[in-house]
Amino acid sequence: MSGWYFKIYDKLGEEYLKFGFVKHTKAEVDFIKKVTRIKKKAKILDLGCGFGRHSIEFAKRGYQVVGVDFSRKLLSIAKKKAKKEKVKVKFILKDAREIPFKQEFDLVISLYDSAFGVLENDQENFKVLQKIHRALKSKGKFVLNIVNGANHIKALPKTFSYKEKDRTYFGKGEFDVLTNRYYTKETMLLKNGKRIDFKTQARLYTLPEVIWLLQQAGFKVLGSYGNFENKKLNIKDYQMTILGEKI
Ligand SMILES: C[S@@+](CC[C@H](N)C(=O)[O-])C[C@H]1O[C@@H](n2cnc3c(N)ncnc32)[C@H](O)[C@@H]1O
Repeated sequence: MSGWYFKIYDKLGEEYLKFGFVKHTKAEVDFIKKVTRIKKKAKILDLGCGFGRHSIEFAKRGYQVVGVDFSRKLLSIAKKKAKKEKVKVKFILKDAREIPFKQEFDLVISLYDSAFGVLENDQENFKVLQKIHRALKSKGKFVLNIVNGANHIKALPKTFSYKEKDRTYFGKGEFDVLTNRYYTKETMLLKNGKRIDFKTQARLYTLPEVIWLLQQAGFKVLGSYGNFENKKLNIKDYQMTILGEKI
């Protein structure tokens, strides 16, 4: 395995759990339930499940859940968390491009830039959509949440810094107009003096591009939303959510 994304999550470990965006799990699960109208006991695949926050919340609500991620560190946190919360989730260490499932799931979720969008080129990103399509039952639903490319491009050039309770976080983003890819160099300074440097990159997809790609992969697009809200995507929205259905 290669690529920047194989290192970052293991490097961040527990620090990853303190990002502000991971704090709205219940509301996100409510939203997904509402727009997909999945049935009780549906089988769900959480692709790029991270530390399992959505997998565990769905399992608590009675769904059968499989969580896949390639970060050993985040999966070990997920397993401990599921045990502590007394729910059963099958967590699998695997690259999203290598999932073996065929017509197994009623719903696949891939939330907060987990695989699609962060891989090294457009072909690799597309492979993930094809694998998700294959993993779904006929008329199965797919909820994809990724960065809203239009929002990022508008905000460039970009430097950022945040002060949080026990850490300072700053960085710089650069955009390559030839590939529509966005690169960041980021640093976290922890209270205990530890410094974590890391890099990220993402393909900045716009909504019509993602809709087209989903259609090419065999999905009907049923809806698109700003963040996790039941409203039209706006240029100010940081993330976008797209609901697809396997044709
Ligand atoms: C920003 S985190 C989001 C995690 C989780 N979905 C959440 O909302 O908390 C992205 C996750 O995707 C995983 N990921 C990225 N590319 C992947 C791939 N090709 N295969 C499996 N997991 C991947 C990372 O390891 C990380 O856990």
